[in-house]
Amino acid sequence: MKHIPILIKLALPLLLTACGGGGTSTTDVGVTSAAWTWSLPPNFPVPSVPADNPMSEAKFQLGRLLFYDKKLSGDGTFACASCHLQILAFTDGKTVSTGATGQQTSRNAPSIVNSAYHATLTWVHPQLFSLEAQMETPLFAIDPIEMGVNDSNRAIVLQRFENDADYRQRFSEAFPDATTPITFSNAIKAIAAFQRALLTGGSKFERYQRGEASLNAAEERGRLLFNSEKAECFHCHGSFNFNDQVNFLGARPTENLFHNTGLYNIGGTGAFPANNRGLIEFTGVASDMGLFRAPSLFNVGVTAPYMHDGSIATLEEVLDFYADGGRNITSGPHAGDGRLNPFKSDLIALIDLNEQEKADIITFLKTLTDDSLLTNARFSNPHP
Ligand code: HEC
Ligand code: HEC
Repeated sequence: MKHIPILIKLALPLLLTACGGGGTSTTDVGVTSAAWTWSLPPNFPVPSVPADNPMSEAKFQLGRLLFYDKKLSGDGTFACASCHLQILAFTDGKTVSTGATGQQTSRNAPSIVNSAYHATLTWVHPQLFSLEAQMETPLFAIDPIEMGVNDSNRAIVLQRFENDADYRQRFSEAFPDATTPITFSNAIKAIAAFQRALLTGGSKFERYQRGEASLNAAEERGRLLFNSEKAECFHCHGSFNFNDQVNFLGARPTENLFHNTGLYNIGGTGAFPANNRGLIEFTGVASDMGLFRAPSLFNVGVTAPYMHDGSIATLEEVLDFYADGGRNITSGPHAGDGRLNPFKSDLIALIDLNEQEKADIITFLKTLTDDSLLTNARFSNPHP
């Protein structure tokens, strides 16, 4: 059976409607309110925005201030940006993250770039559909604690913003109809607006797609392999966002949201480590063991370590893992041959890739890094 890369299927209709920019790097499309105009790369669809949280520049700027502000955490020591650093494409470079009180999360901090387009949020959660809903976890979760906001310090946290004339004015401007603008609900809406606008557009691959750059021989070989039935990558990383579950204005629901890639097979039973078993934790269905969301591959060149638990250190090891068709752990508490995991996706199997071919795919993956985003002043820390 011949598979047509999803990339092409998704990109075509959009190119027809959105190529008015003619060679410029962004196109203004989908003006949804007087206060906001999307600047999107030509092949990016218009993000879907909740009806009760329309975009505005005032909200974006307030959200940016809050995202970088430690005042938003219970004890005033932690900001969203403590675990989502711009220079690392809004990841933290750690295997798993450490929260405000020193507790570790069980997961690796994912990039929040292009999260406007995620159909579901986090490494696996079949019902987490909006950035607003997702934010309840880092703000209020008690196990593990991330920002550490709870019933006993909620009022104190809000008072920090009430006491600040600049914040008072900005909350009022961002939420002009609200009688009490400074609330957690509004802080969440503002940060979500900031995140929705955090989009790539300047990577070498995107410039290549617009005819503004050309790929060298190794990058082009890697691109062809990535999209080939030999390496299979595009089946799960083939959308315009280099994953397989995307949401945008007018998108149809995506199927097959989660996959088991054969990272573990503890004791040969198919099991994954206790704190990180994947979709089964929500469904209780045995075959959902070890299923996680395929992440976007934009900026993977700077987001090591990899996978939901940060258990693969380098892109070289990621390619060895895929070429082997899974990971064989020979000793320790997680011992077991992931290549034989009974719940592994059919698309993960031994691939006959030589060292040159693995290197070419990595060279291609590095064209997905948007250096301009990593240093873009519009997304940087606004506090002195
Ligand atoms: C202690 C470190 C830490 C802090 C602080 C933190 N995050 Fe995260 N963030 C994570 C981790 C770890 C995950 C992955 C969670 C999972 O998969 O269960 C995550 C996931 C996310 C996601 C989902 C991205 C995706 O690809 O689906 C978003 C969005 C996000 N965080 C935004 C925020 C915002 C906004 C804040 C501040 C209110 C914040 N984070 C604070 C560590 C942190
Ligand atoms: C069956 C679907 C599937 C296929 C095929 C697939 N991937 Fe993945 N990929 C995933 C999933 C799911 C994850 C996350 C797994 C986890 O954390 O447990 C992932 C993770 C990754 C990561 C880590 C990203 C990060 O931010 O941690 C990279 C890099 C990657 N894949 C590249 C590739 C390449 C290159 C290929 C082709 C050789 C490929 N993938 C084929 C589903 C797939």
